[in-house]
Order: sequence, then structure tokens, then C-alpha cells
Amino acid sequence: MGFKIAVAGATGNVGREMLNILSERGFPADEVVALASARSQGTEVSFGDKTLKVKNLENYDFSDTDICLMSAGGAVSLKYSPKIGQQGCVVIDNSSAWRYDSEVPLIVPEVNPDAITLFTKKNIIANPNCSTAQLVVALKPLHDHAKIKRVVVSTYQSVSGAGKDGMDELFNQTRAVFVADPIESKKFTKRIAFNVIPHIDVFMEDGYTKEEWKVLAETKKMLDPKIKVTCTAVRVPVFIGHSESVNIEFENEITADEARDILREAPGCLVVDKHENGGYVTPYECAGEDATYISRIREDATVENGLNIWVVSDNLRKGAALNAIQIAELLINRGLIRAKKQAA
Ligand code: A2P
Repeated sequence: MGFKIAVAGATGNVGREMLNILSERGFPADEVVALASARSQGTEVSFGDKTLKVKNLENYDFSDTDICLMSAGGAVSLKYSPKIGQQGCVVIDNSSAWRYDSEVPLIVPEVNPDAITLFTKKNIIANPNCSTAQLVVALKPLHDHAKIKRVVVSTYQSVSGAGKDGMDELFNQTRAVFVADPIESKKFTKRIAFNVIPHIDVFMEDGYTKEEWKVLAETKKMLDPKIKVTCTAVRVPVFIGHSESVNIEFENEITADEARDILREAPGCLVVDKHENGGYVTPYECAGEDATYISRIREDATVENGLNIWVVSDNLRKGAALNAIQIAELLINRGLIRAKKQAA
């Protein structure tokens, strides 16, 4: 007997990708339910070669559901996740609402799988920010080898990270440029078509943005609280795929060749690093792929034990939907949950 899975936010960018990935991976589900707001009730979403009728999250009874993959924003998660958890359904939440709660594990299965056992406190597991997920997949094997002291990361984040409205805005503005229509900016603070915007999420008192703070807080929570991290997060006119330029300072010696060999063997990582035209991965090529791609691995001669790397991944997959489903697989493979129907 398989599991009953709910996808909350099933009409959104990440929710639709969750449905795709559940189907692609042959996830052991007997039943998959699509949930969204009352606005979407009765509309249809694709699930493999089937379609699912969307139900309203607000009045859905989770008592016979095993796992709820939630990607409906922080406010919705804060309101519903505790109630869903109390009904004995494990919530794997993609928003930032629970990530920094000491009773909620924040998990990237390639990085800190053992921390998952903490989920029993609230029946909630947090999925990291899209930029952090791909970053820690690349950093973890290097940290294990040479102990990271400090990381300086600059992100180049696609508009899909801002939801389907963000993608529509890039499309509409790009079209407007070509037909000489007025450019409207609603989702982003400035025009995104043919531009870059050094601002993601709200500004904090110290001048950093919340997105930048998330990268450091989450890297510390999942990898090592002693690592110093600083970040500049930038929105770029790319539909899918986040890129990162990462400068890493290590405690111990590590060469570019060693790093390349380590990353080649590391779970979730794929090294594409030829020193020639096109011998690296760009976000366009990683869309629809599961791996975290690492290119441009080279030594930084300006510091002792320094490396520069270029990290690219599909933000809707490893940065969101795929990681959430890998967490669900981890729960099942470690025998941490049993299907309610089977248990009855
Ligand atoms: P809906 O389409 O009904 O508004 P994205 O991040 O791509 O914009 O997607 C957000 C997802 O969260 C959508 O599926 C959206 O559903 C869902 N959502 C937003 N607000 C609510 C709510 N109050 N209750 C349930 N789902 C919600």
C-alpha cells in the first residue's frame, strides 16, 4: 500500500513542478491530491498523463494524508502547517516560515540527512531557499575535505523564483520592448527585461536583503555554524535556473584539481569544467535537470587556500520541488513514516 500525498500550491510554479517530479520518479503514492486557494477550486493541473481537479486547501481534511508538500507562501504555511501537522500529516514546506525554528529540521538530503529526525516535534520539515540548496550541495564535500572558513557568494537568480507572476512580468516586458509598448513593473521594483536588479526580498536594518540573510543563516544551520558567509543576491532576466559565483576560503590546503575530483564524486553534483569556449554550464542548459552543476573551478591566489567556483541549478527543482520530494523519500527510506492506510 502506498502513501497519500497532498501538494498545496499545486497551481504555482513549484507546485506544478512537484507534481511533475512525483510522477517522473514513480514516487510510491497511491493517491495524489492537488490543493490551492478557493480561486483555483475545480480547475485542472497535470499529473503525469492524468489531470487532477484542484481542491480548496482551506477546508481540506488531512487526517488520512501522509505527507503534504507545501508551496503556497509563508503566510499560508504559518496558518495551515501546524494544523496539518497536528492531523498526523508531515508537512514539507518550501516557504521560509519555519526554516529558522529550532524545532523544525531544515534539510538538503545530500548535506544533513541525519537532522531529519527532529521533524517529530512539529511534524514540519523545512525546504531551504533556492539559492542555499544548490550552494550547500557544492560546499558540503569541499567542507568535509578542507574545512571552509569563509564564503563570498553573488547570486544571479531567475525570475521563476518570484513565482509565476515573475515569469509573466519578464515575458510581458520583453514583448513590450519589441513592440514599443509602455513597460509595466508590478512584481519587481525596476524593469527586469534586459536589466539586472540587486534586490530580492525585503531590506533589513543592516542594508542586506532578507534573501541575502537567508543564504547565510541557512548555510550555517545546515552545514556548519562556524562558516562565515556573505552574499549579494541579484535578480536576472532568466526564466529558470539560478547561478552563483562562489569564492571559498578554506582552513586547509585544497587545489583546483582536488576540488574537481571531490565534486565529481559528490552526490547531486555534476562537474562540467573544460577550459575552452562553452566548457561550462549556463542556467538555460540546467532547466529541467536535477543536478547542481559546477564549472569554472579555479584557485584564488589572493588568499591562502582559496577557490572560485560557478554553481548552476534549476531553482524550481533542486532549489524547491525536487529537494522537497527527496526529503519525502528520505522519510520513507529511513522508515520514519508509514502509510496511514497500511497502518490502520
Ligand atoms: P492559486 O493559484 O489558487 O492562487 P506561485 O508562487 O507560483 O505564485 O504559486 C503560489 C501557489 O500558492 C499557487 O498555487 C496559489 O494558488 C497558492 N496559494 C496562494 N494563496 C493561497 C491560499 N490562501 N490558500 C491556498 N493556496 C494558496
